[in-house]
Amino acid sequence: MGVRSWLKPRIQDLLMRGMNDLRPDTVGLASGEVLEVGFGTALNLRYYGPDVKRVTGLDPLVTDGVKAVDQRIADAPFPVERAALHADGDLPFDAGRFDTVVTTWTLCSIPDPQAALEEMRRVLKPGGRYVFIEHGRSDEASTSRWQDRLNPIWLAITGECNINRRIDEIVEQGGFELSGLDRFLGQGPKIFANLYRGVAVKS
Ligand SMILES: C[S@@+](CC[C@H](N)C(=O)[O-])C[C@H]1O[C@@H](n2cnc3c(N)ncnc32)[C@H](O)[C@@H]1O
Repeated sequence: MGVRSWLKPRIQDLLMRGMNDLRPDTVGLASGEVLEVGFGTALNLRYYGPDVKRVTGLDPLVTDGVKAVDQRIADAPFPVERAALHADGDLPFDAGRFDTVVTTWTLCSIPDPQAALEEMRRVLKPGGRYVFIEHGRSDEASTSRWQDRLNPIWLAITGECNINRRIDEIVEQGGFELSGLDRFLGQGPKIFANLYRGVAVKS
């Protein structure tokens, strides 16, 4: 394993732990069979409620040897399965398999979020819910101009994160109807802190 692959999950874990306060309001809405796209370092597991039967976590990130990840999975009161897959390809799940699909700070990183959302929609049961908290494009013209200017640099630094995606539009274009959406600012610079927290159903 190269230095970059060793560092990546550890640095991500450190940074993403800073979002823990914001997780319960989204993750706590999940129930039944859950597909978590962009499972990362398993930070969401402790926030799932008693109605969750199983979590299938999908992420190409390699977390081998990161003890905290193994511990979070071992501590979960439900079975956790992991698949090292890209969500923007064909997923090996039957249509309508999941009650809930969850993403947290992930649509920014998926190269083809539209393709991923279409697959997420396919594997969601009729009447199932897609719940998410994501960062994305600001409604303030001055901030979104900076997001557009800085996005190529940030993408080159991180290797995957886009700061200027209009999350609500992407979700709707992926075949979902929003049944609730909160827009608010989290902590930190506005270019990173424009948050979209929502619930969507198949349209
Ligand atoms: C900012 S991290 C968020 C991780 C986690 N959801 C959390 O809240 O801590 C973005 C995650 O998206 C994952 N990712 C990137 N491309 C992906 C893809 N094509 N399919 C699924 N996940 C992807 C990354 O590996 C990374 O774990």
